[in-house]
Amino acid sequence: MKPLRVLFVCLGNICRSPLAEGAARKLARLRGLEESFFFDSAATAAYHVGESYDPRVAAVLASHDALFEHTVRQIGPGDYRFFDWILGMDGENMRDLRARRPANATARLALVTEPWGGGRITDPYYQDDWACEQTYLELEDLLAGWLERWREAP
Ligand code: 4NP
Repeated sequence: MKPLRVLFVCLGNICRSPLAEGAARKLARLRGLEESFFFDSAATAAYHVGESYDPRVAAVLASHDALFEHTVRQIGPGDYRFFDWILGMDGENMRDLRARRPANATARLALVTEPWGGGRITDPYYQDDWACEQTYLELEDLLAGWLERWREAP
């Protein structure tokens, strides 16, 4: 079976979406589901294109055994057809994602929190180191829920 393709999106692709991607990859690995999913992440903005994640994010991902190779990229029109799901982190991401959605888009767009009330994922970029850890834990919890949902109904 073809893997379910999921793209995580935030403003810069250096904090929240790589934390989500790292958590999703780790959970899939722990559950023996690496072949069932393809995860990637992207930015709405071009500020950090070509960089890797924020060093605070690298430290948190390493401490959770969730590091992966990452180069920041901006979302493009092809992503809306390649991916099955595109998950944003806050309302601004969702507005940007909808505004860029091409007419032939097939991906489903949702807030990462949508099945559990739809709150925003606070951006740790503007906060202290501990905020990255909290954001990772919040996202890992949400992604565990998404993995369950996707296994039942991709
Ligand atoms: P992210 O956080 O969207 O979670 O990656 C940000 C990263 C960079 C900036 C803003 C938010 N920035 O303004 O450069």
